[in-house]
Amino acid sequence: MKNIVILISGRGSNMEALIAARDAGTLPVNIAAVISNRPAAQGLETAARAGIATHYIDHKAFAGREAFDAALAECIDTFAPDLLILAGFMRILTPDFVRHYEGRLLNIHPSLLPSFPGLHTHQRALDEGVRIHGCTVHFVTAELDHGPVVIQAAVPVLDGDDESSLSARVLRQEHQIYPQAVRWFAEDKLTLVDGKVRLAAELRDDSLLRSPELR
Ligand code: GRF
Repeated sequence: MKNIVILISGRGSNMEALIAARDAGTLPVNIAAVISNRPAAQGLETAARAGIATHYIDHKAFAGREAFDAALAECIDTFAPDLLILAGFMRILTPDFVRHYEGRLLNIHPSLLPSFPGLHTHQRALDEGVRIHGCTVHFVTAELDHGPVVIQAAVPVLDGDDESSLSARVLRQEHQIYPQAVRWFAEDKLTLVDGKVRLAAELRDDSLLRSPELR
């Protein structure tokens, strides 16, 4: 069974979706540890309650990104992860860190990449007036919120939506596609080859989800 480590910074609802899938028997992984850069991250308590090893490494205690990332990687590597999962981890990672975990580092981003990288994706989608929005699981590369796409889910932007209603609709899909992507990795159906996603042929149709609100 593959070993995974999850990095969080806050609420940790995507992490919870992964724990729930593991507990339901639909995600055959060992969640070796949950690590946060914020000591007060709500998700740390949730993980501890689930009996998972937790750590925090406060980025504010380090002089720069390189030093923080080196300490973070040292902690992560004590768990020998096959896969490292960014789940609301709000730090830009150094190229050295990204290279170290190449092909075994996934992120979830709350937009249909390459649209709306960065922050405040839902408000920006509303401001642009797009009709379709969503979320993306991708392998991480040195470029922020960029990298080979594994799976996306599309949701409609409805009349009367505000940031909160739209983000809730997207989040429901995040909780579907992240466990799905990790399951594929765990089952050796998902790999990164020469910078491109290689997905078992029978899964191609499953790599685009539509929310029930999307006609
Ligand atoms: C999610 O919207 C995720 O896509 C983004 O940060 C948010 C984290 O939420 N990267 P949670 O901590 O998983 O609840």
